[in-house]
Amino acid sequence: MEETGGSPLAIVEFKQVIYAYEAQDAPALDGISFTIERGEFVAVIGANGSGKSTLARHINALLTPDSGQVLTVGLDTSHEKTLFEIRSCAGYLFQNPDAQMVTSVVADDVAFGPENLALAHEEIIERVDEALGAVAMTDFSQRNPAHLSGGQKQRVCLAGLLAMRPDVLILDEPGAMLDARGRRGIRRIVRELSREGMTVILITHFMEEATLAERVLVLEQGRLAMMGTPVEVFSHKDRLRELALDVPFSLLLAEELRSRGIEVPETVTPEELKEELCRLYLSR
Ligand SMILES: Nc1ncnc2c1ncn2[C@@H]1O[C@H](COP(=O)(O)OP(=O)(O)OP(=O)(O)O)[C@@H](O)[C@H]1O
Ligand SMILES: [Mg+2]
Repeated sequence: MEETGGSPLAIVEFKQVIYAYEAQDAPALDGISFTIERGEFVAVIGANGSGKSTLARHINALLTPDSGQVLTVGLDTSHEKTLFEIRSCAGYLFQNPDAQMVTSVVADDVAFGPENLALAHEEIIERVDEALGAVAMTDFSQRNPAHLSGGQKQRVCLAGLLAMRPDVLILDEPGAMLDARGRRGIRRIVRELSREGMTVILITHFMEEATLAERVLVLEQGRLAMMGTPVEVFSHKDRLRELALDVPFSLLLAEELRSRGIEVPETVTPEELKEELCRLYLSR
């Protein structure tokens, strides 16, 4: 592997990245620097147009910086000769699953990526089975993707990425087009993948979803406004309001309870808060 001077633990590294779309006055990314380590679960939040998708497109080299540097799995995304390797290591789930569907049979769609890796036929079949299992879509393997629901389509797209055995998964608002149940399904899979050690970068408009991550990056007009654990980031309520972002309900509730002398810890996810409240109730 080429020596790029990146941090040895980093799986994604942005160094002073500036990027402007053509005919755009202000850059979409304006001097962004951060590092994501292998196995981390990071959420990216920010108002509409703050640069989240632009940032995501830089990770798998769909876009490359005007200045600065992006290293994905240690490879400089501006070097064309490593483009294929970067794309296979960094799976990018688009917001709209229809944009990512290519064939008329679910299993073929999932096999599409691995086939481009020139793997043995048996290996491809094994990967497709495993990936469909991971997203609970095994029973749909011979269906036409066009006839699936939005949530099912998105799970098939995710299976297609998993079949590539990527190092890092980037999910660009996977729940935006789904109902609450569809979102819960995707969320459960993402948490499971993260627990199994996959590096996950989740772009989301749902603050509750961001609380599931270990770290949250907040964008504001192409700049990094805040970065920290969910508890740290969501404690800056006034700043979040300026950024047109909500504080997750579970966190507000936990705070309200504490202010009334009910000792819940700084829980952030709804599940954690539920556990705490049950524990307190039962120990009365
Ligand atoms: N293809 C494009 N051509 C020109 N400008 C673009 C293009 N895509 C995005 N932009 C602009 O770049 C800025 C950042 O957009 P981006 O899509 O990255 O934001 P985002 O945070 O993903 O927004 P959203 O929450 O709406 O998805 C915005 O000002 C947007 O108008
Ligand atoms: Mg976007």
